[in-house]
Amino acid sequence: MWCSTLFTSILAAAATVDAYGIKKHVNYEVVTGVFKQDDAATEASSFNFTAENFGLIERKYPSDWTYWLQKPTSWQRLNRYIESLNLKAKHNERYTLLFLGRHGEGYHNAAETYFGTPAWNCYWSEKDGNSTVTWADAHLTPKGVAQAQDVNKFWKKLLTKEKIAAPQSYYTSPLFRCLDTARLTFAGLPLPKTRPFVPTIKEYFREGISAHTCDRRSTKSYIHANFPTYRFERGFAEHDPYWTALHAEPAADQDIRSKTVLDDVFASDRGTYISVTAHSGEIASLLRVLGHRVFGLSTGAAIPVLVKATTVVGSAPATSTLPYAPQKTCAVPPAIRDSSCNDCSCCT
Ligand SMILES: *[C@@H]1O[C@H](CO)[C@@H](O)[C@H](O)[C@H]1NC(C)=O
Ligand SMILES: *[C@@H]1O[C@H](CO)[C@@H](O)[C@H](O)[C@H]1NC(C)=O
Repeated sequence: MWCSTLFTSILAAAATVDAYGIKKHVNYEVVTGVFKQDDAATEASSFNFTAENFGLIERKYPSDWTYWLQKPTSWQRLNRYIESLNLKAKHNERYTLLFLGRHGEGYHNAAETYFGTPAWNCYWSEKDGNSTVTWADAHLTPKGVAQAQDVNKFWKKLLTKEKIAAPQSYYTSPLFRCLDTARLTFAGLPLPKTRPFVPTIKEYFREGISAHTCDRRSTKSYIHANFPTYRFERGFAEHDPYWTALHAEPAADQDIRSKTVLDDVFASDRGTYISVTAHSGEIASLLRVLGHRVFGLSTGAAIPVLVKATTVVGSAPATSTLPYAPQKTCAVPPAIRDSSCNDCSCCT
């Protein structure tokens, strides 16, 4: 049974692009040499960010000077370095440290592993679940909860022992697995009173919008009932305006909206330390927009990116969008288990 009756199709993705009405846009560059993740020699698939102090490279900074007399931690020296960069920056430039976190394992992740990718993509993912498990706007599995709790312990150590600068603001995708991962990651931490954990939910930090029901968000009332302290960005609709049954957002559109939402954050938020909780595909898209190399994150993993942002007047170069593309499905799950037929050419 398809979900096409739940929401009317919105094929005009173009209408969403200027949702934030931005007249200026931002050019992003990654400040390399600070984190191991932007070094081509670092293998993403085996990289354990909690065992590696978030990937922070042990190095000297020009701003160290006599600061070492105070026996600062490496994170305190980095914070001072970022401060010094911002003091010297031109009026339209700034340096911001982004913490991009992927949600812990959700029931949709577990289901894809269970059914195999072809059967998942071409059959099961378009359903809300089976008789025992729901994966529409998937919740975290017990493993996903444990992953987020591990990251919470890691942040506790960073804040108390490493004296990392706490995020000044928090953003999250509107999908349940991210809302819950952000809560579990930052709950009960010794955060500064001036920087409480009050995330803002932003539509465009959501995952690439496929026909999978795990990409359809819940209603605003449901989100509010479950996460009463979270803020919604302006204009956040009661029902998901973007998910479209049996249609998928083209990849190019995702990068355009990733840039739009980043530009919106940089236009409205003067913070130097910003946390975003999102998805594997969306973080990959954000990294492309930021000019970072490809760095895949497993469920529950996070990556820091030191960004130089330069605000320029005018529209972003790529602002046109393609319509959502119809997504192929199979009437019965394909038997093949490897990922050789993700276009559903193996339907039987
Ligand atoms: C990563 O390292 C942490 C701390 O050293 C350890 O507890 C955890 O099990 C490791 N995770 C993986 C997936 O190996
Ligand atoms: C439903 O799917 C899950 C995988 O997410 C699986 O563990 C479970 O056994 C399935 N239930 C039935 C009744 O097949």
